[in-house]
Amino acid sequence: MDSEMLNSNYGLLPETYLFSQIAQKIAVYQKRRPEREVIRLGIGDVTCPLVPAVIEAMHRAVDEMALAESFRGYGPEQGYEFLRRAIAEGEYSARNIDISPDEIFVSDGSKCDVANIQELFSSQCRVAIPDPVYPVYLDSNVMAGRAGTLQNDGHYSRVNYMLCNADNGFQPELPPRDTDLIYLCSPNNPTGTVLSRTTLEKLVAYALEINAMILFDAAYADYIRDDSLVHSIYEIPGAKKCAVEFHSFSKSAGFTGVRCAFTVVPHEMEQLRRMWLRRQTTKFNGVNYIVQRAAEAVYSPAGREQTRNVILRYMNNAAAIRNGLQSCGYTVFGGEHAPYIWWKLPEGTKSFDFFDRLLEECAVVGTPGSGFGPGGEGFFRLTAFGDPAKTREALIRIAAMAQ
Ligand code: MLT
Repeated sequence: MDSEMLNSNYGLLPETYLFSQIAQKIAVYQKRRPEREVIRLGIGDVTCPLVPAVIEAMHRAVDEMALAESFRGYGPEQGYEFLRRAIAEGEYSARNIDISPDEIFVSDGSKCDVANIQELFSSQCRVAIPDPVYPVYLDSNVMAGRAGTLQNDGHYSRVNYMLCNADNGFQPELPPRDTDLIYLCSPNNPTGTVLSRTTLEKLVAYALEINAMILFDAAYADYIRDDSLVHSIYEIPGAKKCAVEFHSFSKSAGFTGVRCAFTVVPHEMEQLRRMWLRRQTTKFNGVNYIVQRAAEAVYSPAGREQTRNVILRYMNNAAAIRNGLQSCGYTVFGGEHAPYIWWKLPEGTKSFDFFDRLLEECAVVGTPGSGFGPGGEGFFRLTAFGDPAKTREALIRIAAMAQ
C-alpha cells in the first residue's frame, strides 16, 4: 500500500493510545512476575456488578426479544423514545432544566461521541483543550488535522491549551479569542476537581461573546456530592445557545462493558442538532433494545437508589485513597466529587517513571499524569473504582514504599 493514501495526521499522534500503552506495560510485567497480584487503579473501569433493577430490566427485554410479537429489529438511531423520555425527565426536568427527548441522542459511549462530534466542524476551527484532560478530545482533533504539529513542550501548535492546576484552583483562564471549540470536563478526568459555577458562567458568557461552542463532558456528574455544584452545563443561563453536553451510563451505572451514553444538542442550535441527527442516522444504527431498557431502569426509583449506593461505595474508596496518601505526607486533589484522585508526586519525579516504580515495587497500577497532557507531568491518577479491600491493600503497599 502507498502510504500517500493514508491519513498523515495519524503520524502526528503518539504511537499508542494512553490506556493501551498502560495495558501493554502491565502485560509485560505480569509475564515477568506471574506470582504477584497486580492491583489495578489505572483505567477508570468499574468493578461492581450491574444493580438488580438494571439486570431485571435486561432479563425482561431479553424475553421480549424471544417472542414474535415483541421482537425488535433496527431501532431509531438516536434511541428509543422511552429512554430519551426517561433521560429528559430523570436527568433534566428533575433539575428544572427543560430538555426535550428530540434534543437527546442515545449512543454506545461518550468516548465515541466526544471523538465524533468534531466531524461537524470545519477543519480550520481552533480548539481549546484543558491541560491535563481526557486524551480523546485532543487525539480526535489531531486525527482530523486541526491540531497542527507537536512541539518540544508536548503541545500541538494550533491548539489553545487551558492550564488547570493547583495554582489556578483547577479553574482555567478564558482561552484566546480565536477559539472556536472549547472542550470542558467537569468533574474532571483526570484531576477529579469540579469547575465552579462562576467559572462556567464566565466560560458560557465568553463563548457567546466570541461565537464559540462548548463541548461539555459530564460523564462523572453523578459523583458530585454537593447539590450546589453544577451537574449540567444547562444550569448556566445561555448554555443552550452554545453548549453540547455528553453523559454516560458507564461510570454512573456500571455500563463500561454494556455501553450506553447520550449527547444533548439543544434546539437553540438547530443547525447543529440536525447535523448530529444526520451523522448518527448515517453512521450509527443505535444501541440495542436490551441495553436501552437497562438504561431506562437506572431512572426507576429502585435503579436510582441502587446506583447511588454503588457510587457511595466508590466514593468511600476515594476517601480512603485521599486519606491514605495524605497520611503518607502526599498532597492530593480531587476525589471529593469525582472517582479520581490526583496525586502530586515528590518534586522532580516524572509520572511515567513513577508508574514503572509503583508497578515494580508495589504491583500497583495507576495512570501517569503526563498521559493527560504536559500539564499533568509530576502527577499521578488513581481511580476509586477498585474493589475496597484491594484498594486498601494498595494503600498499605504504597505506605510501605513511602518509608
Ligand atoms: C479513564 O480511565 O480515563 C476512562 O475510563 C477512560 C474512558 O472512559 O474511556
